[in-house]
Amino acid sequence: MNEQQRKESTQVNPSDKKSDKDYSQYFQAVYMPPSLKDAKKRGKEEVKYDGFSIPEEYRAMGQGKKFYIRTYGCQMNEHDTEVMAGIFMALGYEPTDGVEDANVILLNTCAIRENAENKVFGELGHLKTLKKRRPDLLLGVCGCMSQEESVVNRILKVHPFVDMIFGTHNIHRLPSILHEAYMSKEMVVEVWSKEGDVIENLPKVRKGNIKAWVNIMYGCDKFCTYCIVPYTRGKERSRRPEEIIQEVRHLASQGYKEITLLGQNVNAYGKDFEDIEYGLAHLMDEISKIDIPRLRFTTSHPRDFDDHLIEVLAKGGNLLDHIHLPVQSGSTDILKIMARKYSREHYLDLVRKIKEAMPNASLTTDIIVGFPNETEEQFEETLSLYREVEFDSAYTFIYSPREGTPAAKMEDNVPMEVKKERLQRLNALVNETSAKKLKEYEGKTVDVLVEGESKNNPDVLAGYTEKSKLVNFKAPKSSIGQIVKVKITKAKTWTLNGEMVEEAVEVN
Ligand code: 5AD
Ligand code: SF4
Repeated sequence: MNEQQRKESTQVNPSDKKSDKDYSQYFQAVYMPPSLKDAKKRGKEEVKYDGFSIPEEYRAMGQGKKFYIRTYGCQMNEHDTEVMAGIFMALGYEPTDGVEDANVILLNTCAIRENAENKVFGELGHLKTLKKRRPDLLLGVCGCMSQEESVVNRILKVHPFVDMIFGTHNIHRLPSILHEAYMSKEMVVEVWSKEGDVIENLPKVRKGNIKAWVNIMYGCDKFCTYCIVPYTRGKERSRRPEEIIQEVRHLASQGYKEITLLGQNVNAYGKDFEDIEYGLAHLMDEISKIDIPRLRFTTSHPRDFDDHLIEVLAKGGNLLDHIHLPVQSGSTDILKIMARKYSREHYLDLVRKIKEAMPNASLTTDIIVGFPNETEEQFEETLSLYREVEFDSAYTFIYSPREGTPAAKMEDNVPMEVKKERLQRLNALVNETSAKKLKEYEGKTVDVLVEGESKNNPDVLAGYTEKSKLVNFKAPKSSIGQIVKVKITKAKTWTLNGEMVEEAVEVN
């Protein structure tokens, strides 16, 4: 949606409690609720690219004020928070670590499963007391939940003290949304159901100075039948390669050691370009020439993971051979109903190709158990696939119906007790395999990117291997932010203990 379309569809809230409102000439209370039905449509309109700037009149908006953002969910949300923090800072706000002294609080929400949503509603319940005590506090809800009409309706009804709701497509409009919220007595709801332009030059305040996320694309067109993301994040739109490369170069010059390229389905990167043949493999190949020690990407979809990408990754160097490759299920029949568009055999074949090209590659995955009508045999196919691939680790979930998705309408004959029991059995296998993999590190020496002091012991430092294993070891504080060689002395349940050494080779 472009700015003109947005203005045309902006309405003054028609709700009856607005009858006594004095709409001044300076503002309109915005009421623009989402529609999952509209979000589903994939139009042919061209993706537009636009730059970000802050209108002169908003530049001092935050002077003397503090903001606090609580983030739920995935890395995409974490990174959106970094962008919003950048916008707040550009408006003159200061960050704060807690809600107590914040003048603006944002909840950047996640809609992927019901329990993620419940956490947010619980938090809103807590914040009600704070808002009562400090009515001048601005409270906002943004992120994926805001894109769902059922959520917006529930907030309007049950949490009317919320000041603003905005979605994932209009983060760059934060300055004017804040302005509206300050001026309006009513809740400002500005959610675009359809994705907007790709906005460049967004200010970002990154969480650390060692690792950084860089968005390469937005949205998802895969429409797996259980997933809400294609509705909350819109259609696939790739950032132009030159913008991404420039951002990575800038991060390299600032001394960042690790970059993760981000997208909901990064293997579809570039498929929307009409003027160039350019995909993730081309991008990784070009970025690998930049002087940055570690380069990753997430999240992959097995369907679009092509031979060209494997070929590029096999060159190694700063391209890490740790691949997160969500499989979701080991049963071809379930994969079909999930609309994953690949079979068990296709997935195993892809794994074989990856391992052939990169014998030391480590694979991690996402798995959903208890999909509607999943049989015991189908679940066991997931267990057997897990054993066959020998993943390093996995994120495992019980299927959670999401309103508006096709799977939510399916009848389901699997009782919750059975789903829970399957999750436990799967987790036992995941833990056993991870422990075995960690044990193989004992006595070996690995490269560790030192991130800081260990959470439990300030005398010990903590960092991650190329394969994302957490290592605790003693070393001088000056090694924080550096990649050092560490000899692994002991594998614990989830982490490794080690000693820093001078010389070494990477683990096999
Ligand atoms: N229920 C359970 N898990 C889900 N995921 C996505 N949608 C759902 C859902 N409705 C999981 C998938 C995905 C990960 C990010 O979350 O495994 O890869
Ligand atoms: Fe959801 Fe599937 Fe898109 Fe991943 S690929 S975000 S699971 S629809």
